[in-house]
Amino acid sequence: MIEIPIPRYLLDFDLDGLPVQQCDMVVVGSGVAGLSTALRVSRDFRVCLLTKSFLTVNATNVAQGGIASALAPGDSPELHFRDTVEAGRGLCEEEAVWILVREGPKRLLELIEETGANFDREGDRLALTTEGGHSKPRVAHARGDATGSELEASLTRRILHKKRLSIQENYFVVDVLVHDGRCLGVLGMDIEKGTLSCFLSSAVVLAMGGLGQLYLVTTNPEICTGDGVAIGLRAGAEVADLEFIQFHPTALHLPETPRWLISEAMRGEGAVIVDHRGRRIMKGVHPLGDLAPRDVVVREMVRVMKEQDEDHLFLDASGISPERLKERFPNIYLHCLEAGIDITRTPIPVSPAAHYASGGIITDTRGRTAVRGLYACGEVACTGVHGANRLASNSLLEGLVFGQRIAEDFSRHREAGKLEIPTVFPLSFRRRKRDLPVDVQLLRVHLQQLMMDDVGVRRSKESLEEARKFLEENWDLLDLQFLNPLGLELQNMFIVARVIVEAALTREESRGCHFRTDFPGEAEHWRRHVIFRKVGECVKGYTRKVGELTTREYEW
Ligand code: SIN
Repeated sequence: MIEIPIPRYLLDFDLDGLPVQQCDMVVVGSGVAGLSTALRVSRDFRVCLLTKSFLTVNATNVAQGGIASALAPGDSPELHFRDTVEAGRGLCEEEAVWILVREGPKRLLELIEETGANFDREGDRLALTTEGGHSKPRVAHARGDATGSELEASLTRRILHKKRLSIQENYFVVDVLVHDGRCLGVLGMDIEKGTLSCFLSSAVVLAMGGLGQLYLVTTNPEICTGDGVAIGLRAGAEVADLEFIQFHPTALHLPETPRWLISEAMRGEGAVIVDHRGRRIMKGVHPLGDLAPRDVVVREMVRVMKEQDEDHLFLDASGISPERLKERFPNIYLHCLEAGIDITRTPIPVSPAAHYASGGIITDTRGRTAVRGLYACGEVACTGVHGANRLASNSLLEGLVFGQRIAEDFSRHREAGKLEIPTVFPLSFRRRKRDLPVDVQLLRVHLQQLMMDDVGVRRSKESLEEARKFLEENWDLLDLQFLNPLGLELQNMFIVARVIVEAALTREESRGCHFRTDFPGEAEHWRRHVIFRKVGECVKGYTRKVGELTTREYEW
């Protein structure tokens, strides 16, 4: 496989002379993974929570559907396991999935109890709905379609009262500091002041969310530029499964960015996808019809749109009563109404949008990465639970379950006298500087368009090589030193895009969210993960058998 040269750090620095703060743990990111980990760890330790924008600007906050867990009568962790691995198309790490489905219900109930999050109820039970790929109703939701914002609000209320927890917003983490093979903190930039500083800590948790902004059409907020994966790679962590970019079937087809999501839960309540003639497109395509796993629905949508030369289809919610629609999906109803679409009367124009990275930084079942002292949690991580295609509403759950495991692991290490807080140590970095005229905004849009066209729902050797060529031709972007988030984000986006392209070229088959028009079938010999890691100056690729990805413990 190809070797990709990337710098160890994006900026020159010398710790001697930089403002330094110290704490037990740095948590980067303020979605459900970051907040719930910080909440637990700060019971006993000093935590600094760093976030690139404001506390509630993240993908969790805009999550609509909910949190899946086997709580309904007639449901079980076994059935949740079966649905998860079925969606993951033979690439899930089963031990990790068992952890998710067995520990999930407890974590969800604990969260509700601890934060008072206002989940919807039917009588004295949690109201549970169905989404794509689920054989039972098991998706808990809050304030109808505002699950993520309810979670963020309730977690934030708790966090703000924690004495051992400090929060810094508008702080751009540039890189994690690694010395003698151990992660000892982060180097970052106060965005308002434009100044560099560092946080030294015994451990760092990367909980920086996803990378949807690599694509022109996405449901992800502006901040989701893949920074976490790029930082992990530069630090020496392994990353896997990045070819599996999940597109959400039903993003509102209006020229707004990010695209407003029309929750899959609406199909769980009876809405169906139709073409311009009103024909149901999923009928007869899959036994679960409109509730087939996402990759299946998206591929069929793209096929129909291509055949009919259209750029969108419709979600027809006429099977749901107007009262139920307004009560169950109040935010979708209002957002569409503001855009001139009354969903109680008119089909909603929808098209697929990049939504979720099924892969990321490899962790073991305790959330540890290959770099001692560095954990990863949430969308940025690859715990192995999603395989080739994440089951809907498993991601908030993953953040809760593995966040708790990180808290426990960290505590164990500290009790054993390991992972002590570092004192200031000598560390600096200098590299050759280049000065090139670049239009960062233009390059960003160019990259997003290219990823959409050539590395999107359908790919081929030809399209992927086109993308590789563009990235290679502009690779000297990584020689520049930007003292602003836009430039640093673009560098991260280039690194992550390159790894996605190389992973997609390597996987000569179609599986889950990865569809190669030149290799349309699943191949048994590809029950392997494509992995990348930086060795020396370059990122190198290799593969590993399913079952050996995340269940092998990283020795710290
Ligand atoms: C949705 O509400 O459709 C999104 C749920 C998810 O992505 O898990």
